[in-house]
Amino acid sequence: MKPQATTGDDPRPLPPSGAIGYQQGMSSLIDLYAQRVASGEITVDPAQEAVLPEFERIRAELAKPVKKGFFRKAPPPPKGLYLWGGVGRGKSMLMDLFVDQLDVPARRVHFHAFMQEIHTAMHQARQDGIEDSLAPVAEKVAKEVKVLAFDEMQITDITDAMIVGRLFQILFDAGVVVVTTSNRVPDDLYKNGLNRQLFLPFIDILKDKMCVWELVSPNDYRQNRLQGEEVYFTPIDEASRQKIREVWEHLSGGPAQPLILKVKGREVEIPQFRNGVARATFYDLCGKMLGAGDYLALAETVKVLILEDIPRLGRSNFNEAKRFVTLIDALYEAGTRLVCSAADQPESLYIEGEGVFEFERTASRLREMQSASWGKDG
Ligand SMILES: Nc1ncnc2c1ncn2[C@@H]1O[C@H](COP(=O)(O)OP(=O)(O)O)[C@@H](O)[C@H]1O
Ligand SMILES: [Mg+2]
Repeated sequence: MKPQATTGDDPRPLPPSGAIGYQQGMSSLIDLYAQRVASGEITVDPAQEAVLPEFERIRAELAKPVKKGFFRKAPPPPKGLYLWGGVGRGKSMLMDLFVDQLDVPARRVHFHAFMQEIHTAMHQARQDGIEDSLAPVAEKVAKEVKVLAFDEMQITDITDAMIVGRLFQILFDAGVVVVTTSNRVPDDLYKNGLNRQLFLPFIDILKDKMCVWELVSPNDYRQNRLQGEEVYFTPIDEASRQKIREVWEHLSGGPAQPLILKVKGREVEIPQFRNGVARATFYDLCGKMLGAGDYLALAETVKVLILEDIPRLGRSNFNEAKRFVTLIDALYEAGTRLVCSAADQPESLYIEGEGVFEFERTASRLREMQSASWGKDG
């Protein structure tokens, strides 16, 4: 699939009637998964298979025709699904499979991007003189979709923690079905966060409205996908560009969204992001006034960084080189995987000027980070 920039999510309006896959008698998610296994796209995984009936339950329930009648009340919406577990287990892949088969208005969006959008809309509403800005914002979201699919729900920010309870209550009251992936069990969300007691009702709402499911697969497929794959491409030419494109498509599995990191009240935009994989050029990350805090936030948020076009470093681009050293340190500390294209091998990237000595560590880290077993797990 060709990555393309979107405004931060994949809006999925009602498909045209008769579109393939939306007709009556379409295949269930269980069949669809089996088809992908048969075609060799994925390998069969019992832990993934085990959760398919949960997704299928929601899909089938939502696909039922709505009986209209004066006295007939709309049936209660199905319970959503909170799918959690270690990295690379296939949570996002399964959620995408599910969202692709829905024939009701649905939105798949990175949770972080969604919350940012909510804050922006609330800010706008307050400027328009609306004091309780959350309710109208949440109601607008609820009107637009039947299903919200969040990738990577996590709460680290107090401004998010303090509004999610009411936000989700409004969404659920409006009949929105929520499906989400997360690395954490609900009880561990916003763990050790400030004023956590005010956050606890949100956890109860989640547990009430969603079926909580742990994906306990022994396989980290993301790591497997990178295993034996080259991750360092040099020189920078059409061949390495093509390789990078392939790795991106292989790992991200769909259209990109920009990722906006909030760092000390500022916003840092990473141009392309999906499924834990971020993609940027050297210039995007090291050619701008970014610092250690920004790189740490990035390293902690993404699982794989694809960094293109690392030039030769030295006197002429000393500041960029210094930032690059800081970036690699942050990725290294966080265990974030790096796939990159560079003008030369790590040891030959920086050979003249101040900072040569410092760069030895960076070069060695760049080497180490290329090994198949390197990186964060679980
Ligand atoms: N059963 C499988 N067989 C092969 N590849 C898989 C399988 N499940 C997931 N993958 C791939 O592994 C990578 C990581 O999966 P992903 O859904 O992003 O994991 P998670 O969201 O749990 O971190 C993706 O590229 C995905 O397509
Ligand atoms: Mg994921």
